[in-house]
Amino acid sequence: MPSNSTPAGRLISFEGSEGSGKSTQIKRLAARFQKINRDVVTTREPGGTEIGEQIRNIIVHNSKGDEMCAEAELLLFTAARAQLVREVIAPALRRGAIVLSDRYLDSSTVYQGIGRNLAADPVAQINRFAVGEVMPDLTIVIDVPLEVSLQRVKARASGLPDRMERETIDFYRKIRDGYLVLAQGLPGRIIVVDGTETADAIENKIWAEVQARLK
Ligand code: TYD
Repeated sequence: MPSNSTPAGRLISFEGSEGSGKSTQIKRLAARFQKINRDVVTTREPGGTEIGEQIRNIIVHNSKGDEMCAEAELLLFTAARAQLVREVIAPALRRGAIVLSDRYLDSSTVYQGIGRNLAADPVAQINRFAVGEVMPDLTIVIDVPLEVSLQRVKARASGLPDRMERETIDFYRKIRDGYLVLAQGLPGRIIVVDGTETADAIENKIWAEVQARLK
């Protein structure tokens, strides 16, 4: 049982296309929380646990990956997330930590639902089943124009692009637009920040929103 002095645990998820700058901002937000002596846990999807890392390898690097149907992809991503929630996120929240998650259930809604055209209802139900009660208190979508995200992905690519990175421009357009539409529908939980600003400016904006929304 947490005592009265234990701060409430909070889950903040980061979302956006490849190359949107999520990992830089997660590090910066973690540092801000550490400065005020909060216990911070960062997690990465679809890995983050041993089981999750194995699942990630099946999805991302499997030589037969191109033959994977969208339904299997959805179930694998959500299986990795179910494990991450129970093994890492829920226990951290119970002890009062701030959990910063690099991707969470909105990635399935957008990549598998919108990107791969799976029907919204089963995706939402499967998402809910996988995470249970553990919904983000705040979700930060870092938005960058298509050209910027493609350039950044190219610049950091070493050798062969992985399966997700071989997707078409159209796919990434759907992902970007999908996040913006999702955010519009859930303004109480999701904020969109402009990922083309400087890293410092984005960090300050995120910190201000976090303080205002997660008192
Ligand atoms: P990764 O290289 O781990 O992440 P990032 O691009 O965020 O640095 O690859 C994750 C890929 O998996 C990325 O293309 C997004 C995709 N993805 C989904 O399609 N659905 C999901 O539910 C999740 C968590 C990720």
